[in-house]
Amino acid sequence: MENRFDFPLERVMEGNARVYVPVGRALVRNRLRYRPSRSTVFYNPVMKLNRDVAVAILQVFQRSLNDRIDVCEPLGGSGIRSIRFSLEVEGVRSIVLNDINPLAANLARYNIEKNNLENIVEVTNLNANLLLQEHSRPKSRFDAIDLDPFGSPTPFLDSALSALKDGGLIAATATDMAPLCGVHPLACLRKYGAVPLRTEYCHELAVRILLGSIAVTAARHDFGIRVLASHSTDHYVRAYLTCYYGAKRADQSLLSMGFISHCFNCFHREIGRGFATKLPSVCPECGEILRLCGPLWIGALADSEFCALILEKLHEMGSDTNASVRTFERISKEADAPPTYYVIDRICDKFNLPIPRTEVVMEKILERGYKVVGTHFNPKGLKTESPARVVKEAITNGQI
Ligand SMILES: C[S@@+](CC[C@H](N)C(=O)[O-])C[C@H]1O[C@@H](n2cnc3c(N)ncnc32)[C@H](O)[C@@H]1O
Ligand SMILES: [Zn+2]
Repeated sequence: MENRFDFPLERVMEGNARVYVPVGRALVRNRLRYRPSRSTVFYNPVMKLNRDVAVAILQVFQRSLNDRIDVCEPLGGSGIRSIRFSLEVEGVRSIVLNDINPLAANLARYNIEKNNLENIVEVTNLNANLLLQEHSRPKSRFDAIDLDPFGSPTPFLDSALSALKDGGLIAATATDMAPLCGVHPLACLRKYGAVPLRTEYCHELAVRILLGSIAVTAARHDFGIRVLASHSTDHYVRAYLTCYYGAKRADQSLLSMGFISHCFNCFHREIGRGFATKLPSVCPECGEILRLCGPLWIGALADSEFCALILEKLHEMGSDTNASVRTFERISKEADAPPTYYVIDRICDKFNLPIPRTEVVMEKILERGYKVVGTHFNPKGLKTESPARVVKEAITNGQI
């Protein structure tokens, strides 16, 4: 293989794509300390599930439009995601693949040539915001924009919404879990305009904070949003939503904004709708101070009908997508469940109880007349409308 780059390359295969990426081992002495973000051009094999799901969702979205689509990946790295979109999604008319790093743009161009996709994919080397603003004129907007940054996607949301067609799809990854999960609350406030909370369900709060920030930004552009799916996997959260033009639609989606407050003593939670919502400051169950998180998205995190179509496409893609299938089976089941979840181990830890089997606790909650489902956020997590008190009783009664 000829190599026109001054760093060593290796060929990787993912989905139907064959791409060249920098040799990870050659860049650092210690494999355990390999940091893809420090490599010359970004490629992270761990994000395969993220890209599998992105491919499946783009296909379901394209089918829903029943038309050919124009796509943009403003933060493209090696180009693997756009190459997979071109090869695995039917009905893609064009893709603009961009990266600010000239080495990445050059490598992406090379990978596009190697996959014979020059007719579909155009590679650019711009600041993502500049590229998106250049596409904000009505005739040059995109049907779908996939934001996959280092850290937070919020610096790119305004321009992405300017460059999106009415009814278009936004996909966004956030990898800055420390701010989103409340380890660095000020950073969360800065990036997302929300106060995070370090609870056992902080991964769900992270998704809700991301969605809330997108909903508020979309409203500024007179877009209302419809959440198609969202998930938390490994070290990141991801949101997929369509945006519809109209002030009323924007107002409508802001009705799904609110706050969640949490009692760290008895696990009780309160959910308040709206920006100026009134929530009790002390726990009505035990009298401890409640801690507030938000503003965030308190609406549904997924659309179960859309999830069924995603699962169909993931199955079509073959056994290689088993991990995504398992994740989406769970997401589909919890789509209509209420916000937040309980983690059995945490409650046992707090009250010094032995840990019962999850299924037994679920049965006990069902016996008390409350619906209960598992959650993809945590294998030991339960989503239920029952009060925390009932969950604790179910755990106590569920001891074998
Ligand atoms: C996480 S990587 C993208 C990975 C890629 N989407 C994938 O699926 O493999 C983020 C990329 O964004 C690029 N980037 C960072 N800031 C940017 C900016 N302001 N404009 C354009 N690209 C940027 C980086 O050079 C990096 O390649
Ligand atoms: Zn309490």
